Amino acid sequence: MIVDLVLSNTKAYIDNEIVNCSLAINQGKIFKIGTEANMPRTDTKIDLKNLLVLPGLIDVHVHLRDEGKAYKEDFCSGTAAAAAGGITTVLDMPNNKPVTMSVETLRGRMKVAERKILVNVGFYSEFPKNMKETEEIIREGAVAFKLYMAEQVGGLNIDDDYALLEAFKTVSRLKVPVAIHAEDKTALKKAEDELKRANCNDIEAFLKAHSEKVEVTAVERLLNIAAQTNVHMHFCHISTENGLNAIIDGKKSGMKLTCETTPHYLFLSVDDLRRIGTLALTMPPMREKHHIATLWNGIKNSWIDILASDHAPHPLGQKEAKSVWDVKVGIPGLETTLPLLLTEVKRGRLSITDIVRLMSEKPAEIFRLKGRGCLKEGNNADVVVVDLDRKHKIDSSRFHSKAKYSPFDGWNVEGKPVKTFVGGRLIMDEEEIVGEVGSGEIIRRE
Ligand code: DOR
Ligand code: ZN
Ligand code: ZN
Repeated sequence: MIVDLVLSNTKAYIDNEIVNCSLAINQGKIFKIGTEANMPRTDTKIDLKNLLVLPGLIDVHVHLRDEGKAYKEDFCSGTAAAAAGGITTVLDMPNNKPVTMSVETLRGRMKVAERKILVNVGFYSEFPKNMKETEEIIREGAVAFKLYMAEQVGGLNIDDDYALLEAFKTVSRLKVPVAIHAEDKTALKKAEDELKRANCNDIEAFLKAHSEKVEVTAVERLLNIAAQTNVHMHFCHISTENGLNAIIDGKKSGMKLTCETTPHYLFLSVDDLRRIGTLALTMPPMREKHHIATLWNGIKNSWIDILASDHAPHPLGQKEAKSVWDVKVGIPGLETTLPLLLTEVKRGRLSITDIVRLMSEKPAEIFRLKGRGCLKEGNNADVVVVDLDRKHKIDSSRFHSKAKYSPFDGWNVEGKPVKTFVGGRLIMDEEEIVGEVGSGEIIRRE
């Protein structure tokens, strides 16, 4: 037999170990893992010269935009950024134009994506207006629901605890997770309105409005509602000590809970936000330093299940305004996440095992992405090749994302994704996109 491709001389992460081996790839799948002598014949062999080979990363929190927001990012630029960052699968958030919140909008989005994506993409949906449509949305292939608690985005009334309870009962029957942006709208708007009336329009005002309490209130409110059901809640981008502690308590009580945090809460504090300015503004915002220590502990003790980028691109022109309330919040993260994490491996704060668990294994398990998340025979050949010794400087002007700015600009990092394979096809080679658009797969829930 002749296979499509053999990756030779690798140090590959297999079964929790880094082993010297070769990988044969055929028809998009990992066909065989073994010694070079045991590889099937091939016309295409790539000598990886002992570089580290990891399962492609899965970023469960990405705003790919496109459609009415294509000026911020589109499926092509966003998935190019993912490939450049060593990420082979992303889950796309629903706050689009139109909002993904019905069979029709989901189908429309998948159709636009199909011809443009370079990596695999699965889709979140907001809850629909008519709850009866919930099941159809899952049948159409959404991988999970998103519940945005900071503002009314989807069709479900977020002020109505009873409506939330009914929605949770429905999704627990469908066995899909609900991913939650935990900032309580009532608490947030109250603070925001008071600050606006007092003419407070700067970053300090934004920090006051988006307080730790706003996060904790949302977490606790949802834990109370969910405790009456069997729903699986996944808390997005947890940023505070008490937010995380509330989730840990919920986990200890036996609730079906998972959570993620993002690199910007692990590496940046309010001091960085103050120094950099509104360019670094995100929702929730960066926090005081003690929160950072708590989050790192949460990673060490595996209370935090996933790391995700919350890649949320906006044009540079929308990142500044006279009033902080008019600034678009969100930063790109697809191209900085892996280098930042690899640098921590050099420093001894993370291990390769941590990175694979947080960004491949757990995402695949939690969002039920079959055939992904680890390197094994029969799985999809989604692979990232990493040069652990490659030192470089983060330079947002080289981003494939349309959002060419980063709070990490100029940071010295060590470790870099140098090749990304999606379904056995080489998509990124040394920062360059070499794959064809449409190479990625639309991931539909089975
Ligand atoms: O910083 C953020 N950006 N937080 C959000 O909740 C939304 C996101 C976006 O879509 O820009
Ligand atoms: Zn969010
Ligand atoms: Zn987000």
